[in-house]
Amino acid sequence: MIYFFIFIFLILLIPTLFPIVPLLKIVLWVIAGIWVLPFTYLMYLYFFFSANNNEIQYKIWDLVIQKLPWNGQGKALDVGTGAGGLAIQLAKRFPESDVWGIDYWGKTWNYSKLQCEKNAKIEGVADRLIFQKASASNLPFKDGEFDAIVSNFVYHEVRDTKDKRKLIKESLRVLKKGGNFSFQDTFKNNRRYGILEDLISHINGWGIQQVNFTETINEISIPKLLKAELKTMGVLYGIK
Ligand SMILES: C[S@@+](CC[C@H](N)C(=O)[O-])C[C@H]1O[C@@H](n2cnc3c(N)ncnc32)[C@H](O)[C@@H]1O
Repeated sequence: MIYFFIFIFLILLIPTLFPIVPLLKIVLWVIAGIWVLPFTYLMYLYFFFSANNNEIQYKIWDLVIQKLPWNGQGKALDVGTGAGGLAIQLAKRFPESDVWGIDYWGKTWNYSKLQCEKNAKIEGVADRLIFQKASASNLPFKDGEFDAIVSNFVYHEVRDTKDKRKLIKESLRVLKKGGNFSFQDTFKNNRRYGILEDLISHINGWGIQQVNFTETINEISIPKLLKAELKTMGVLYGIK
């Protein structure tokens, strides 16, 4: 998107470097000026979520872990692990756990299995982490295989299952009875998940003991401008 914005910006500005009708020059400058506004906002978002400004990203992962009512004994799974950040934080927080991270590592995101493995090594937890290529819609694990499951900002991205509730169900399938879960996503987006209260009672209907919800923006301090972007985000957490 950033390259696209720069490309269009240049297309608008380059003709103004040539001797063209002054009015056309002004019109192109005005359009380029307007075009820059969403670009500036995009850069602002990029900056806040970039590796150079990890603070907000850590806060977001930390919230998922904080809401996980787990004692850290056994196996945990991070669905849609990306570059392995949340899985690594989980392994560090629970030194007796073994953690799996799955992702389909498609072209949309710049992440890879190798990158996850390198990151785990840097953080000193590579011996307790396994990364595997798989889709969140069809997890290659048996029912009830894990003691804890987490996921951060993934379900809305998944393209191979339209019904987002099915993705939550698939993650919960591989969770042990009595196991703990904490999923963060845009659960307050009605078009994706339906009404939140209905989503929660739907999940309860699958025989899940305890389902709680909290809004991300109420839990962590987020810059005002970013709040609008994250207003539908929240954590669904509880016990199977
Ligand atoms: C916004 S990133 C979040 C990454 C990571 N959870 C984090 O917190 O840094 C979304 C991730 O979802 C992954 N993803 C998208 N569709 C997926 C699918 N069908 N199965 C597994 N992962 C998927 C992407 O590859 C990407 O890594």
